Amino acid sequence: MAVERTLSIIKPDAVAKNVIGEIYSRFEKGGLRIVAARMMQLSREQAEGFYAVHRERPFFKDLVDFMISGPVVVQVLEGENAIARNRELMGATNPKEAAAGTIRADFADSIDANAVHGSDGPDTAREEIAYFFKPEEVCARG
Ligand code: PPS
Repeated sequence: MAVERTLSIIKPDAVAKNVIGEIYSRFEKGGLRIVAARMMQLSREQAEGFYAVHRERPFFKDLVDFMISGPVVVQVLEGENAIARNRELMGATNPKEAAAGTIRADFADSIDANAVHGSDGPDTAREEIAYFFKPEEVCARG
């Protein structure tokens, strides 16, 4: 299986709930390694740019408002099949549909405040990692 990298964001709702460590533990126990990380307050421009692909969708403004409502933690996760693995660990976008034991089932309240983001494919992962991290900020496997 291929070793991949994926971009993950712990969203403002989960940061406010003080569950950053619990979510990091899910990543680590799930076989993923944190190889870059930053806590930050997104600007409106940064959030709009990150979600530009959703610009025409009816929830775009609500999504951006939510993502700038408080600090987020952005990380690069590395591991075998990291993109799919992270999405398994996250669970479905709508926490009401997320499988038991997933991050969203356990920590998210609604489809608009759903605790975590994860890249959905290899091209998106490359673009999203580059959106937040310079190549030298992503550390090699320890
Ligand atoms: S996917 O997999 O990207 O196609 O998922 P999708 O359902 O299209 O959702 C894309 C992102 O938009 C968020 N979202 C919403 N935000 C606010 N309100 C509503 N109704 C809503 N529906 C979806 C969803 O959490 C996804 O965010 P990310 O950060 O990509 O997970």
